[in-house]
Amino acid sequence: MDRILDDRRTRIIVCCGSGGVGKTTAAAAIGLRAAERGRQACVLTVDPARRLAQSMGLTSLDNTPRQVDGVDTSGGGSLHAMMLDMKRTFDEIVEAHADPDRAAQILANPFYQSLSSSFAGTQEYMAMEKLGQLRHSDEWDLIVVDTPPSRSALDFLDAPQRLGRFLDGRLIRLLTVPAKAGMSYMKVLNAGFAMMTSVLTKILGAQVLKDAQTFVTAFDTMFGGFRERAEWTYRLLQAPGTAFFVVAAPEPDALREASYFVERLDAERMPLAGLILNRVHVSPAARLSAARSLAAAETLDTYDRSDGADGADGSGPRYGVAAAVLRMHAERMNLGKRERRLAEHFTSAHPAVPVAEVIAQPEDVHDLDGLRVIGTSLSQQRS
Ligand SMILES: Nc1ncnc2c1ncn2[C@@H]1O[C@H](COP(=O)(O)OP(=O)(O)O)[C@@H](O)[C@H]1O
Ligand SMILES: [Mg+2]
Repeated sequence: MDRILDDRRTRIIVCCGSGGVGKTTAAAAIGLRAAERGRQACVLTVDPARRLAQSMGLTSLDNTPRQVDGVDTSGGGSLHAMMLDMKRTFDEIVEAHADPDRAAQILANPFYQSLSSSFAGTQEYMAMEKLGQLRHSDEWDLIVVDTPPSRSALDFLDAPQRLGRFLDGRLIRLLTVPAKAGMSYMKVLNAGFAMMTSVLTKILGAQVLKDAQTFVTAFDTMFGGFRERAEWTYRLLQAPGTAFFVVAAPEPDALREASYFVERLDAERMPLAGLILNRVHVSPAARLSAARSLAAAETLDTYDRSDGADGADGSGPRYGVAAAVLRMHAERMNLGKRERRLAEHFTSAHPAVPVAEVIAQPEDVHDLDGLRVIGTSLSQQRS
């Protein structure tokens, strides 16, 4: 990790993976570590847990990166962070690419209002758009991107095409024609089309249809820009200055999905830097094996039984607590072993993918110190 962070050519780091595995935590930890190693870092988070957001000074969704306090800047670095506000990002695009009257018209349009907050893939698309903007501004030398908690964590790669498909859709085309073509053109339209329009009017109501037409025509003029920028960002992601990390928990489902992400990134020719195996369980008492620990617990049980201290006389087993602790230790050791086997399975399927392990912390990660612990863990070589 440190080699990647210290390489000035690294300009974008993307953390992807399925939901709840620690993408946001990893992105924040990487951003903080980079800043404390002298980089001008900016973290783009999508859905930070409230306490983590607060600890980074992200109290409002204002869609602009804010400087994070409490960062060690003695190495000349700095950390900015922002939470993505999907709707606000969409509005900003409209404002930047349409004249003020047109922009006001679009923003007030009911179709725009529902599309901008509910269109499937909007969040992924807006994350791409925001990344493009941040990179374009050139204010930071490293941007760390967290990805949305979507069902398929790589949806953001599809977002440009999906937006294209939506705007190319048949219904949309149909709605656009009358508004664009004007009356003279209308005369030559076939009867089928006229009927379709009248059916739509009946179903949707005249005002709704008019709103839809106005919106689509207005939106269409910006469409070229959308696509171009999405493609620019997509190419940026493929460039050598980008490093993708797939984040996974050491569990069968999460690792299966991680394998899929690794293959998908490869198919899209996106530069994969490695797998972050998060929430790994290790025991500080690893020298005592699960088997020996269980054997010791059995022995203590035998002592208790021969003592007659089986709890029947109310005194309770003398070594009961010690035996329980030994059994917990054995369980922990076995969990660690299972996790290691899963990790080895992943590595044998993807031998070229480096793995960084992050130890499961006793509590949620919700402040800079917690993030530092994760960052240190990330930069240690896998044992
Ligand atoms: N290594 C870890 N040890 C303990 N808790 C963790 C660790 N990594 C993440 N968490 C916690 O797990 C929860 C989910 O993490 P988060 O980063 O929000 O996941 P995601 O962004 O992938 O949905 C958070 O409460 C976070 O504090
Ligand atoms: Mg998240």
